Amino acid sequence: MQRHYQFAGFMGKRVHLGVTGSIAAYKALDLLRALIRADLQVSATLTPGAEEFVRGLAFEALGASPVYGPMFDARAESPFGHLEPGQLADAMVIAPASATTMARLAFGLGDDMLACQALAFPGPKIIAPAMNPKMWEAPATRRNWEMLGEMGYTRVGPDSGHVACGDTGSGRFAQVDEILLAVLKAISPQDMAGRKVVVTLGPTRESWDAVRFWSNPSSGTMGACLAVAAYLRGADVHAVAGPCGLTFPAGIRVTNVNSAREMYEAASEAWPDADIGCCSAAVADYRPVPFGDQKFKKTGTDGLTVQFETNPDILKSLGKVKKAGQMLLGFAAETANVEAEAARKLEAKNLDMIAANDVSSDGSGFGTATNRMLVLHRSGRKEHWPLLSKTEVAWRLWDHLLLD
Ligand code: PMT
Repeated sequence: MQRHYQFAGFMGKRVHLGVTGSIAAYKALDLLRALIRADLQVSATLTPGAEEFVRGLAFEALGASPVYGPMFDARAESPFGHLEPGQLADAMVIAPASATTMARLAFGLGDDMLACQALAFPGPKIIAPAMNPKMWEAPATRRNWEMLGEMGYTRVGPDSGHVACGDTGSGRFAQVDEILLAVLKAISPQDMAGRKVVVTLGPTRESWDAVRFWSNPSSGTMGACLAVAAYLRGADVHAVAGPCGLTFPAGIRVTNVNSAREMYEAASEAWPDADIGCCSAAVADYRPVPFGDQKFKKTGTDGLTVQFETNPDILKSLGKVKKAGQMLLGFAAETANVEAEAARKLEAKNLDMIAANDVSSDGSGFGTATNRMLVLHRSGRKEHWPLLSKTEVAWRLWDHLLLD
């Protein structure tokens, strides 16, 4: 799973996982593990169809508790298992959902344990189908899918491609990452709802000749964590991403760019409509004066001198036109005098907050899963944070900015 999807800290929240009869049922075990990694408590119900593919014991062994059996099970601890998820869990996710279960849920039939639990579940429900493409295209399935949307289910997938029986088309189980994010969004505070957020992230590439460029080792992780955290908390997010090869949830608008000047164009266009700007990208301050569009050939002489010209400072230009009500968060990547440099950039770029990382310290900065931050707010607030995952840093940065 990609690092910028690995949010944790949902301690105290519970999710109920429903698994139905599909060859994709084994992938529900990956989903269970991802939910548990996010610190969630997970209970599960397997329909009799699901039990044909994968056993409840496997879910128990990986940490689901309880795992409910069939509706009229004399060995059940309580006769009210069909009501418990609705009383205890914060969200319910049915993944994979078969055509039959979709029909049960759409029409409100209560003829198995999972369908009764769904009927009695008042909280957010997420559904991710998996089936043969012809079954998926059947008018009855399409109607049931529409009905589930109208009933308020969050619908994830299905994906297109090859399916187990050899057919190709729509009906593949969605990526576990996508389903996980839909669950996390359902249980996250929506305290950024209604806010438009633009985030720059990743490196820039400044071409010199047909095959060479000037760049840096930013992986885009820090910025992607900020974009996904804001999305989970309800914001309308626009990511302006340098070349880092990361994927984002479908709900995030992504503009892919290469050079600093392309990033500047995209960020400047998005900024007037945004409520919050966040520049986490490692932008090249200088670009080589291009050699041309051919490959440079080695000369007989030793050494090579390349001229550079100055790139626009994106963050500074956003700061210059910042309007009342807009908030701007910048980063500082330093190897020395971290606090003094961060304070200088906070002022010079007209920021509300700056997050500084010492990129020469272990586990911090470029390409790591973790970061150690010094955070300065224009009000004078100052915080040193210990080494934390970048997802945790992102979550805390939004908390800190929104305190204002
Ligand atoms: O992507 P990762 O591998 O996860 O690494 C994360 C990170 C180290 C890239 C990130 O945490 C970080 O520090 N990002 C800022 C990198 C940087 O360019 O810092 P800076 O101190 O040179 O620039 C200060 C600020 O101005 C930054 O917000 C930067 O985005 C912005 N800037 C800089 C130059 C420029 N031409 N335009 C800008 O917008």
